[in-house]
Formats: sequence, structure tokens, C-alpha cells
Amino acid sequence: MLNRAVTVFDEFYNKGFCRSTKSLNALLVAGLIAKDYEEVKRIFMEFPQRYKIDPDLETYNNAIKAFCESGSSNSVYSILVDMKKGGVKPNATTFGTLLAGFYVEEKYEDVGKVLNLMKEYGIPVGVNTYNIRIQTLCILKKSNEAKTLLHGMLSKGINPNSVTYNHLIHGFCKEGNLEEAKSLFNSMVNRGLEPDSNCYFNMVHFLCQGGDFEAALKICKDSMEKKWVPKFSTMKSLVNGLVSISKVEEAKELIKNVKKKFSKNANLWDEIEKGLL
Ligand SMILES: *[C@@H]1O[C@H](CO)[C@@H](O)[C@H](O)[C@H]1NC(C)=O
Repeated sequence: MLNRAVTVFDEFYNKGFCRSTKSLNALLVAGLIAKDYEEVKRIFMEFPQRYKIDPDLETYNNAIKAFCESGSSNSVYSILVDMKKGGVKPNATTFGTLLAGFYVEEKYEDVGKVLNLMKEYGIPVGVNTYNIRIQTLCILKKSNEAKTLLHGMLSKGINPNSVTYNHLIHGFCKEGNLEEAKSLFNSMVNRGLEPDSNCYFNMVHFLCQGGDFEAALKICKDSMEKKWVPKFSTMKSLVNGLVSISKVEEAKELIKNVKKKFSKNANLWDEIEKGLL
């Protein structure tokens, strides 16, 4: 698919059409979507010169993404030098991508270097930068380190948002630290931040997996108040769990509510309901 795109692009250019940064960027985006990082790098390194196109910030950000997502974040330092020469100023996205790259490669010294570079470039380290760092650490199953960053941002007077908490809660859930997930969920709500639907679904799913059916029921009810019904398999494990701790009435009530809000699966629930009688 991408190869064809490149060929078409080449033909276009050879005929003198459409020599724009915009079409170059579109091609890079197509490469990123296809996760064809080598091709993105090749296009980025060859096309601007071959077709006399000036790369803009978007061009650089796309290329940097390809380097960072393919384990060569280190190459980005020289790209930053080129950007400076070309008078293109990086923005928070540029550095966010680079930070995520260095975290994934576990190059923590470089994380510090990038944060210093941001200062040099006058780009404030705000909530979005923290969120990228927290998300990456959570994916790497280092949720405790991510939580240290949460405390770091709070002590600097940077307010976390719901995205911050969603990442942390999912991270702790996946690591099986449900007490921490519950406590973060509560502090999030206490701060007046709204968990998103996935956050509710994750909590219910992992609390059921951990056998904490009462907590799962409470969160499930809150979620359904917002018309967000967890998927069938999650609901089924909650219902079965409630029955296993002799909360049959609660299980029946839950099924009644689901059928009311989610008529699509009503017949599936009829089966399970029959089993509870
Ligand atoms: C950085 O620049 C890119 C490309 O112009 C843009 O899409 C992105 O939204 C910018 N990021 C921020 C945080 O402003």
C-alpha cells in the first residue's frame, strides 16, 4: 500500500505536480499509520532534497515519531540541530514524542536531557508532558514511578487532569495493585475530575478479576448511571461473582438494570437470569 503511495508520489513529482510540504506530510502520516518506520525515515531523509520541499514542524514531528517508535530516539538530537538550522522551532509535541521514546528505551539520562532542552527552548513542562511520561511508565508496568511523577507535578503546582488519572488507574489495575487503583479513583473523583468510560470499565473488569465484587458493583452502578455499560463478559463475571458471595439479590437487580439500559443483549441475560432462580 505504502510502496504504491511512494511510487505515485514519485510519478507526481517527476511530472512536476504538487511539490508541497502538505503532500509530503500526508505521505509521512500514511507511513506512520502503516507502522512502516523505515520507509518514513527514508522519505524524510530523501524527499525534501530530491523535490526541493522545505520541511515544516509537522514534517519533523512525523519523522521524529518514526525514529522514536522504532527504537532510535537518539537520532532525534541531530534532527533538532537541523531544525534549528532551518529555523523550525520544536513544540511540546516534538519533545513529548522524544520523551516517550527515551522512556521506552529506558534511557533515563536522556529523559533528563530532554527536559533540560525544553527549558532551553522555552517550552513549559505542563500537564500534557507529564501525561506522556506517566502513560509511558504505566505501559512499562512502572506505575509506582508514574505515581511519583504525579506527586512531582502536584508539588510544582501543576494540576493533573482526568487523563493523568486514567493512565495511572489503568496502570495499577494491570499490575494487580487494586488498592492503589481504588485510592486513585477516589482522589480523582474528590478533585472533581471525571473518569472516562474506559476507566470505569477497567476498574470493574480488574476488580472482578481480583475478587473484589462489592467495590466492582459500586463502580459499575456509577458507570451505568452515566449510561456506560461494561461489556457483556465483564458484567457476567460481576454477576457470577456477586452470586458467589451470596449477593443474589444484587445480581438480579443488576441484570434488571442492564436489560433496561442495554436491550441488545437482553436474551443473553434471560439465560443467566434463569440460572439465578
Ligand atoms: C505542535 O505542532 C504540530 C504540527 O504543527 C501540531 O499538530 C501540534 O498540535 C503542536 N503541538 C502543540 C502542543 O501545540
